[in-house]
This record gives sequence, structure tokens and C-alpha cells, in this order.
Amino acid sequence: MKFTPFKMAFYGQDWNTTGAINMHSSNPEPFSWQELQTLTELEFQQVLRDVSLGYESTQGHLGVRQALCSSYYPSLDVGNIALTSGAQEGIFLIANSLIEAGDEVVTFTPCFQPLVSVFADAGAQVKQLALDAADNWSIPWDKLLQAVTVKTKLLVINFPHNPTGATISDSELNRLIELCRENDCWLFSDEVFRGLEHDNTRLPAVAEHYYKGISMGVMSKSMALPGIRLGWLATKNPQLIQQCLNVKSQISICQSSLDAAVTEKLLPASHLIWQRNNEIIHRNKALVSKWLTNNEGFHAVMSKASATLFVQCKEASESAETFCHNLLKDKGIFTMPSPAFLTDQQGFRLTLGKRNADSLYEAIFTI
Ligand SMILES: Cc1ncc(COP(=O)(O)O)c(C=O)c1O
Repeated sequence: MKFTPFKMAFYGQDWNTTGAINMHSSNPEPFSWQELQTLTELEFQQVLRDVSLGYESTQGHLGVRQALCSSYYPSLDVGNIALTSGAQEGIFLIANSLIEAGDEVVTFTPCFQPLVSVFADAGAQVKQLALDAADNWSIPWDKLLQAVTVKTKLLVINFPHNPTGATISDSELNRLIELCRENDCWLFSDEVFRGLEHDNTRLPAVAEHYYKGISMGVMSKSMALPGIRLGWLATKNPQLIQQCLNVKSQISICQSSLDAAVTEKLLPASHLIWQRNNEIIHRNKALVSKWLTNNEGFHAVMSKASATLFVQCKEASESAETFCHNLLKDKGIFTMPSPAFLTDQQGFRLTLGKRNADSLYEAIFTI
């Protein structure tokens, strides 16, 4: 098995980002225990004292799966959910459960790279449809209707979207589901930013509305807890759950029991956590909008959901890589250049999730 290098990790390693300030994270400011406890009024000492440090089942801690059903997926039951060690593992499980050599997969770019590369590594022919900033990052329906055919095994979507912060309407999501139904193809919906909609209009979970639909979530993104390596896959299709568990039993076997104990407590408090994160994002959005107004160097379609936006460099002669590298060298600020998202639209991912970032935005936009 071959693994395509993960460009985001490459930039982190090869550009010597040690000591630099990360201004591209897709997760909102990670919580400290103290802040988490104060916000949720939950007591974690007891949880950590009582948790059994044994293996979990491969499908994952029952209490977490029950909490997911009651808080996130009311029409699903615990058998419809498999826990994973982060969403990254979820992508790997789906690719290695569904894909056989030569299968066709359709997805959009820019994107979180593994949503293309992990499927390609598993043997798929991945058709990448470009979303365009000039078109407000909206779905190119004409191209999509041509690309998805009865030969398509899987359509991969990620709304709210990384890196652009774009999202779609309920009716567009229904249209995507109908397109998959007509072509009998799987729909893998990476929903890791669900909860970070800036106007609170939440898309339904794909897994609840389509038998060949898969919803993926995680504690690291909309819950701002990347140190808790716990994600999940949800689908009404029992064979797929079983195939994912077969793959998982060859890699992580099960997720951490400590992470599961904390997650079980936290899931019912998701709304409080999302609200805290959206408050940080709203404040930063106002700051960034101010810097972008009448700015001759940069342009961005403002993010509608998630904790990032994609900023385009107007200066055509300067590549995004050069810009980000200079910003790192001169000001010690690390942003993520567009090649990491498999797009040739020059720009970089900027976080909206960092606290006390006023002077950092100023440093970026006045370079
Ligand atoms: C869209 C998307 N999906 C999945 C992941 C993987 O999440 P995790 O790092 O928690 O495994 C990320 C991480 O950035 C992401 O942005």
C-alpha cells in the first residue's frame, strides 16, 4: 500500500514552523480543562477517576454512541455508528471499505487533501471538480451532473467546507442525495464543521436521509477539542459498518477509553460549545472583513460556516507559497498555502478561530 504525502504536514515540517504562530487552523481555539469545566459546568475529575483503562469494543464505547443518537442523529440507533480515532481514521476506513481498484469517486477542490488522496491511494479514479471563488465557491451543477453517472461509486462532500467556509442550502443537499440515489452511488459527507454555521442554519445529517449516505463527525473541529482523538462514522447501512470495523481492527482496534469517557459527558453540551466557538469566529470575521475592505493586496469570499476562510492574493505574480513563506520568515506567522488544498487558485487558508488575534490579522494584511 502506498501513501501520498500529506502536503499540510510537509509545510509544517519543511518550513521550520517551530515557534511560529499558527494562523491557519481549521479548529477553533482549543479548550483548556479549566475553560471546558467553567463553560459546561461539568465535573471531569470523577470521570477521569472512574474510567476503566481497558480496551473498548471496536465499534466503540456504547455511552458515546447513545449520546450521538440522542444529541445528533435521532433517527439512528447505536448499531448505525462506529467510533474512530479522529476523522482522519474515518476517511481511511471508508476508502478502504468501499473502494476497489478503478472505482470512480467524484469530489470538489479546494479540499482537505485526504478527501482526494486517501481514495486515490485506495485505487480510485478521483474526478476533482473545481469550486471557484469567482462563483462564490458554489457547486458547479452542470459539471457535477455530467461527472456523476451509474459508474460512480462514491460522491464525497464537505459542507461546511474546509478551507473556504462555504456551505450549501437544504435544497442543494437534497439534490445531491437525489443525484446519488438515481445513480445508486454512496454519498460520504464529511460533517466535521457541523455546528459552526455562522447563522445557525444547520444542514441535516446525510446518514439520516439516505441509506447509502455516511455522515462523519469528530471532537476536534466544531467541538474545538483536537487533543481528544475521537471521531465517528454514521450510516444506516449495516454492511458498511461491518466493513469499516474489519479495517479498524487492523489499525487502531478501538478508540481511547479516556477520550470516550470525556466525550460521553460532553456531547449533550455541544450547543454551548458551538456557541462559544461561533462567538470567537464572529468577532474575527468582523476584524477580517475590515482588513479586506478596499484592500489592494487581498480578496476573499467571506466564510459562512466553519472556522476558516480562503484568502486570495490579488498579486498574480506572487505565488501563494512565496507569500506564506515570506510571512513566516518575516513575521513568524504560519498560514497554509493553496497547493495544500489541491487547487491552483492562489491563496491561503486563514483561521477565524483564534482568540486575541487582532494584531496577527493586522500583521498579515499589512505585509
Ligand atoms: C474536512 C476535514 N475532515 C477531516 C479532518 C480530520 O480531522 P482529525 O484531524 O480530527 O482527524 C480534518 C482536519 O483538519 C478536516 O479539515
